[in-house]
Amino acid sequence: MKRMFLCAFQVILYATCSCAYYNLALHKPAWQRTDYSQSSPWGADKAVDGKYTDRYFTGNQCTISADKQQTAEWRVDLGSVVSINYINIFYRTDNLPSPGPYYHRFAGYFVYVSNTTQREDGYLCFHEIQQVDRTPTENQTISCPVHGRYVIFYNERRQDVTYPSFYSQYVYNELCEVEVYGCPVQRYYGENCDLPCPENCQEQRCSITTGECLGCVPGYKGPRCSQACEKETYGLECLSLCGNCSDSGECDNVNGTCLNGCKEGAQGDKCQTQCQLGRFGESCLQNCSSHCYVSSHCNRFNGECLGGCDHGWKNLDCKQECDDGKFGYNCNQSCGRCSDGLQCDKINGTCLNGCSPGFSGNLCDIVCPPGFFGTHCLGVV
Ligand SMILES: *[C@@H]1O[C@H](CO)[C@@H](O)[C@H](O)[C@H]1NC(C)=O
Ligand SMILES: *[C@@H]1O[C@H](CO)[C@@H](O)[C@H](O)[C@H]1NC(C)=O
Ligand SMILES: *[C@@H]1O[C@H](CO)[C@@H](O)[C@H](O)[C@H]1NC(C)=O
Ligand SMILES: *[C@@H]1O[C@H](CO)[C@@H](O)[C@H](O)[C@H]1NC(C)=O
Repeated sequence: MKRMFLCAFQVILYATCSCAYYNLALHKPAWQRTDYSQSSPWGADKAVDGKYTDRYFTGNQCTISADKQQTAEWRVDLGSVVSINYINIFYRTDNLPSPGPYYHRFAGYFVYVSNTTQREDGYLCFHEIQQVDRTPTENQTISCPVHGRYVIFYNERRQDVTYPSFYSQYVYNELCEVEVYGCPVQRYYGENCDLPCPENCQEQRCSITTGECLGCVPGYKGPRCSQACEKETYGLECLSLCGNCSDSGECDNVNGTCLNGCKEGAQGDKCQTQCQLGRFGESCLQNCSSHCYVSSHCNRFNGECLGGCDHGWKNLDCKQECDDGKFGYNCNQSCGRCSDGLQCDKINGTCLNGCSPGFSGNLCDIVCPPGFFGTHCLGVV
């Protein structure tokens, strides 16, 4: 059961309620679990007939349930989910002054507001084990500012509960009138039901008395849902954090979309996705160098090739050819002694026009053996 104690114990003894609102129960369909008699003038509808000046058994204005029952249940169907403020109950008195003869039957009653005919599905507006004899008084006003469709009156006498001595043995619906005051259209509030709930209230529902929202649509917060989510938050109750949006980091307060693209390394509407392999930078718009040693593996934030550069390329991003005189992986080898001081092949280091005299080998890095000299070490001493 939801929020069991939301408005339990908020009973105000009937006194001087000058509250307006509409009696939403008047002439609505009503039901009770057991009837006092089949062809009775005590049907469930008597509690919503608008009449309770004669609260005597035969006054023809009160609902009465069957005798000798361990449970009593009555409900009215308000027709749709409405915004309730408070409920008045006028119990049977037989027109005697309070405390009349029936408070011991009334004692221990429950009132629920539900969206189904099941009281267990609803809010418990009121329940109290009376501790004081001669209570409750026959006129009750129960504050229950919730939204719902059915108002259910219920009472029971259970075997496993020890009740105060003044409790009756059996329970009865002896409801001369049940009035349910509130606003017929949920998105309005105030005594005259003419004030629209604030526009960002979730499902346009608000407190019937204060107009404060019962929840906000995504992107807004505050009692009247008038504040957009603060910087870097969005969504329902502003509980979601923006992704890695660029610039100020702000995102759309409702759906989290980044307004100006993503920071380095992130992509997607909300910048919550890492760059796919081969991409880096703001919104992952740049390609990793094609000269990374491990093809297309680069740091998604700054483009640094992971595993260094292919032969012939240098710098962290491997986008620069080797300087003259250098070659190989990450350009970290030096050319041999190429003829005419020419640059070697930057990838594999071969000298394109042979070696300077005194050197040999593909890379011209082998000094002629003792006794040999000159081009290709062909000269013999
Ligand atoms: C009834 O349903 C409305 C939504 O349609 C919800 O706001 C309200 O809290 C529900 N009431 C109860 C008593 O469950
Ligand atoms: C109970 O309500 C009836 C009907 O409105 C009223 O006449 C009566 O004075 C009330 N009794 C008490 C004790 O407030
Ligand atoms: C998010 O909201 C903005 C602003 O209303 C809109 O332009 C954008 O298309 C929305 N994005 C998505 C994914 O719905
Ligand atoms: C967002 O930025 C944080 C901090 O710089 C980083 O740890 C995280 O991986 C980033 N997320 C994405 C999807 O880029």
